[in-house]
Amino acid sequence: MVDNTLPDSSSNKKQLHLWEQAARRQQATAIAHPNIAFIKYWGNEDDGLRLPANPSLSMNLGSLYTKTTVTFDQSLPNDTLTINHQAVTGPALKRVTTSLDLIRAEASLQLAAHIESESNFPIGSGIASSAAAFAALSVAGAAAAGLHMDEAALSRLARRGSGSASRSVPAGYCRWDTGTDLISIATSIAPPEYWGLRDLVVIVSQEHKAVGSTGGHQLAQTSSLQAARVAGVAKRLQVCQEALLARDLSTMGPIIEEDAIIMHAVMMSSRPPLYYWNPTTMAIIQATQQWRSEGLGVYFTIDAGPNVHLICEACQAEAVIAAARKIPGVKDVIASEPGGSARLVA
Ligand code: DP6
Repeated sequence: MVDNTLPDSSSNKKQLHLWEQAARRQQATAIAHPNIAFIKYWGNEDDGLRLPANPSLSMNLGSLYTKTTVTFDQSLPNDTLTINHQAVTGPALKRVTTSLDLIRAEASLQLAAHIESESNFPIGSGIASSAAAFAALSVAGAAAAGLHMDEAALSRLARRGSGSASRSVPAGYCRWDTGTDLISIATSIAPPEYWGLRDLVVIVSQEHKAVGSTGGHQLAQTSSLQAARVAGVAKRLQVCQEALLARDLSTMGPIIEEDAIIMHAVMMSSRPPLYYWNPTTMAIIQATQQWRSEGLGVYFTIDAGPNVHLICEACQAEAVIAAARKIPGVKDVIASEPGGSARLVA
C-alpha cells in the first residue's frame, strides 16, 4: 500500500516542467486512476491493436491509483519490473516490455528500463488494475523517453497495453470510440467535478480470476449473443451519456445495469463459458433492487470478476456502504469519487 496523499501536479505549467525534467533524466513517475465502465468494452475487432468491437463509457476512480516510475538505464541488459516491491518476470514483464517497445520505437531509443509500479488498491479485485497500470506506464514511459505526446497519443498508447487503459488517460468521465488505430482513443466528456458520483466496490473475493479480460475478449465472438450486444451499444451509450450530462442517475442507472448484464450474458454463453459471479455477487444484485424499493438511488455494474460496483450519489454513499457491509460474504467496500487524468508526479 502506498501513501494516499498525491502531490498536486495537475497544472499545465507543472506538467510541462515535469515532462522537460523527465526527458533530461530519462526517468519519470506517473500516476493513473483505474476506471469503472458504465457501458462496457467486451471483444475486439483487432486483438493485436486492441481495437474494440464497440465504444464504451467510464468514470475514473479518484481514490484509487497506480504510481509507476520508468527509468531508462544503459547498464541494464533487459527491462526489469517490480509490482508492489516484488520482482516480476514472465508474461506480466513481457506485456510491459511490449508497451515500452512502442515507446522505444517512436523515440528511436535502444535502452532497457527499470519499471517500478505500486497501487493503493488490491490487484485482481475486480478493479481494472491493468487500466491504471498501462495508463501510468504510458505517461511515465513516454516522458522518460523524451517524447512529447498529447492526451490523444497517450490514450492510444495506453490502449495498446490494455484497452480500458485508454479511458484512464483523460480526466473524469471518458468515452472510448471505435475506429482505426489512430482514431480509437478516449476523450473526456465531463471533468471529475461535473458530477460527484460514488463508486462503491463491494469486494466478495480477492482471488485472481481464472480467465482474465484479455482471454475473455478473444472468446466474445463465440457467443451467439455478442452480435446483438454490440448492435445495441450505440443506443445504450447515447442514453447513458445524455443522462450523465444531465446528472440524471434514475435514467442512467437502469442502462448501466442492463449493459453489464448483457455483457455477462455474452460471457456466460461463450465457448468455453465464463462464469465470473459467485453466490454473493447475486445476493448483492438482489439487495440492490431491494434497497431501491426502499428509496436508495443505487445501481450495480460488474466487470470481469465477482465483485460488484455500486453507483450512487455522494449523499447516499454512507447508507449504501452500511447496507452492503451487512451482506454475508462481503469482505470489504472501497469507495471512490470521480478521478482526474493520468499525469506526471515526478
Ligand atoms: C469487463 O481493458 O482489462 O472491465 O485490453 O485485454 O487489458 P485488455 O482488457 P481490459 O478489459 C476490460 C473489460 C471490462 C469492461 C470495461 O472496462 O469496459
